[in-house]
Amino acid sequence: MKKPIQKAEDNVNQLKKLNSEYEKTKKALEKTNKFLLNILESSSSISIISTDLEQNILYWNPGSENIFEYKSSEIVGRHKIDIIYSGKNTIKRANQIRKHIIKTKKGAVCELRQVTKTGRQLWSKMTLTPRLDEKGNVIGILGIGEDITEHKQADKELYQTMKRLKKTLEGIIHATEKIIETRDPYTAGHQRRVASLAKAIASNMGLDENTVEGIYMVGVIHDLGKISVPAEILSMPRRLTNAELALIRTHPQTGYDIFKPIDFPWPVAEIVLQHHERLDGSGYPNRLEGDEIMLEARILAVADVVEAMASHRPYRAAFSLKRALGEIEQNKDILYDSKVVESCLDLFNNKKFKFSATREVSPLIGG
Ligand SMILES: [Fe+2]
Repeated sequence: MKKPIQKAEDNVNQLKKLNSEYEKTKKALEKTNKFLLNILESSSSISIISTDLEQNILYWNPGSENIFEYKSSEIVGRHKIDIIYSGKNTIKRANQIRKHIIKTKKGAVCELRQVTKTGRQLWSKMTLTPRLDEKGNVIGILGIGEDITEHKQADKELYQTMKRLKKTLEGIIHATEKIIETRDPYTAGHQRRVASLAKAIASNMGLDENTVEGIYMVGVIHDLGKISVPAEILSMPRRLTNAELALIRTHPQTGYDIFKPIDFPWPVAEIVLQHHERLDGSGYPNRLEGDEIMLEARILAVADVVEAMASHRPYRAAFSLKRALGEIEQNKDILYDSKVVESCLDLFNNKKFKFSATREVSPLIGG
């Protein structure tokens, strides 16, 4: 058994050891604090703001001074955070975000409209995180913000340019349609009806808005290549000879060659090229099979066949819609994509789809 003196010495040594560890930890913490404070203070383009639960500003770094033009001394402890929010709506939104953070104890990223001391408006991307006490209660919010006004402006300009470009391209497509209509009103009417059916099929399949719009645009001009076919062949009041058919069958390639150099926001030339291809490889011009054919072209193919069969021809009356739908159902998964066929049947059978009332005579085999 140790003597009392020995035991006391052991205790003193133990205390010394603990004290030395405490000092080491304290120094490490001070070093970390200094390091963090350096980061906060040296961020001149990032605003770092700390608030309490009443939204009073507790900390305001030099980055915030640069961005919002208020000195730390004139704002800390004197103003609430809503001084930098622009307009009632932003204040309302910021309040909702703040409440959500306090309730969930989870951070949030948001873009807010803000205003500087001199009234300059800006957009800020804010990362907001809850500040917690040692028991885990939220005692305030730390916000780290970046001025994204220039990005926003660039985005807006890019969006406007894209909108104008899209409008120009739509103009080209409609001008093309008019050219076709002048020469061959039959094809023009056919294309417009195919476009509306193809658009409805695509939309019914749940495709995204841009793809649906692209399919409609291509539908409106998909037979442009027929401008290289003599008009009398296009309106021949009898069945076509093999030579005449071969000539007509060049129209996807001609259309492709015309559209290829134009940089549309949709793959217009490729869809035009593939709209007579069939799943089993029996189509033209490249005898593509299955997935080699783009979905947009598979949709256009079904709309094209249904419209062509349900329309009058110079050499025959229109087949009934029932027969046209029977054709695609019978050849589902053989010639035509089954999902596209099902969407098309659903439109006519359950969703009351109808071609527009002003139906012109369509003279062509296979659209
Ligand atoms: Fe065609």
